[in-house]
Amino acid sequence: MTSMSVRADAGIGIFDSGVGGLTVLHRLRETVPGEHLLYLGDTARHPYGTKSAEVVTRYAIENTQFLVDKGVKMVVVACNTASSVALDVLRARFDVPVIGVIEPGARAAIATTRNRKVGVIGTEATIASGSYTRALRALDPDLEIYTRACPLFVPLAEEGWVENEVTSQAAALYLASLRQSGIDTLVLGCTHYPLLAKTIAEYLGPTVQLIDSAAETAREVEATLAACTLARAAGEGSASFFVTDVPDRFTKIGGRFLGTAVDSAVRIER
Ligand code: DGL
Repeated sequence: MTSMSVRADAGIGIFDSGVGGLTVLHRLRETVPGEHLLYLGDTARHPYGTKSAEVVTRYAIENTQFLVDKGVKMVVVACNTASSVALDVLRARFDVPVIGVIEPGARAAIATTRNRKVGVIGTEATIASGSYTRALRALDPDLEIYTRACPLFVPLAEEGWVENEVTSQAAALYLASLRQSGIDTLVLGCTHYPLLAKTIAEYLGPTVQLIDSAAETAREVEATLAACTLARAAGEGSASFFVTDVPDRFTKIGGRFLGTAVDSAVRIER
């Protein structure tokens, strides 16, 4: 075997603050089914969305180091908050390709909008970082961009309250100004928000297209594997899970984010 095919046979590392990044893993399984996927959920330190950029960057470096030590050929930062604040640091520090969720989401929004009015929702840290605004402006400097942090959507999604009156009311309170602004495209800039897509779509109406960064990111991973000749040649892929707290809650609620049951996860020491 050549060293290139040995390298291509290595896994893809994916990390998030907890279960949310499983929405990205779900899309990766569909898009690159032949790859071995190693997922780390930093459940002991979840959530990231309310923490400072400095702290999230430190966590992101530690998570990436763990995956690189496992021999992965690529790292996917399957967390909007960590992608927003730590991507440049990770790319400068590690030799493997590091893919975040912000740029793919921004590209999809640009390809979708017709009236060039785009909304972005995410955690407090993601919105405060201005990451989506920068990525969107880099592609279209004249775009009108409206942003809103929706922190309560994270616990609602984890609770499984994706379509009830509490969630509808939260959507109405968070999204009223976005509906007023006349956007035709809304980026779901948080791993958890695709679970609430129906409620969000109902409130905003049929004129607003929702962008799921997870699906776009999976396409970017596929393209990068091809460009770097790192795709596995043949065979069925696999998924293994690591967490930083006891696995019970992760395996219990993970299935909702992954689309299929998460049977087991290995706890690592932090
Ligand atoms: N994974 C985070 C994100 O996409 C949401 C959960 C958290 O705050 O840690 O921003």
